[in-house]
Amino acid sequence: MEELQVKELKPVFTHEQLQERVQALGKEISADYHDKKLCCVCILKGAIPFFSDLIRAIDHPQMVIDTLRASSYGNTDHSSGKVNFIKDVELDVTGLDVLLVEDVVDTGLTMHEIVQHMYAKGARSVKIAVCIDKKERRQVEVDIAYHAFTLEEGFIVGYGLDLGEHYRQLDGIFEVVLANR
Ligand code: PRP
Repeated sequence: MEELQVKELKPVFTHEQLQERVQALGKEISADYHDKKLCCVCILKGAIPFFSDLIRAIDHPQMVIDTLRASSYGNTDHSSGKVNFIKDVELDVTGLDVLLVEDVVDTGLTMHEIVQHMYAKGARSVKIAVCIDKKERRQVEVDIAYHAFTLEEGFIVGYGLDLGEHYRQLDGIFEVVLANR
């Protein structure tokens, strides 16, 4: 595979912009789920920073959390179209109102599969909260209940999003400008 050389990281969303949206989403989710059995599920690994901020912005004393890992990409920048479940949730989600927390929805294939998977496990409801709703390459329709930002296009990293496993730790989101393109 061609080596990707990064020339520049162009700021797209700052830490402050992300935090402002996360706080607003937290309030919205708190109101929507106050009478529900909320189970927030972090879709590893990309959602870790967003999930960590979002659950602390949600006011819901009975909330439970869990993690799931479903990988479709490997170390490439395009989807293989196949979703592998690497790690499942550990809680029994029967009767729970599951909120899947994801860094980005791109083709939609990953989320489509995970929603079906959660209903098959007995969840009472399944909704999606995503940091970046990226519409350019959508292949299947997914109902996104909560999003921090939408983006038409661009190869982005930071705040959990990676390029070959790097840049996840950045506290803002950046567009990758490649040297050899
Ligand atoms: C990324 C991202 C989403 C998925 C979105 O995961 O975190 O889970 O791809 O793409 P899609 O809408 O086209 O299915 P990845 O498999 O790269 O794992 P990661 O979260 O560990 O980076």
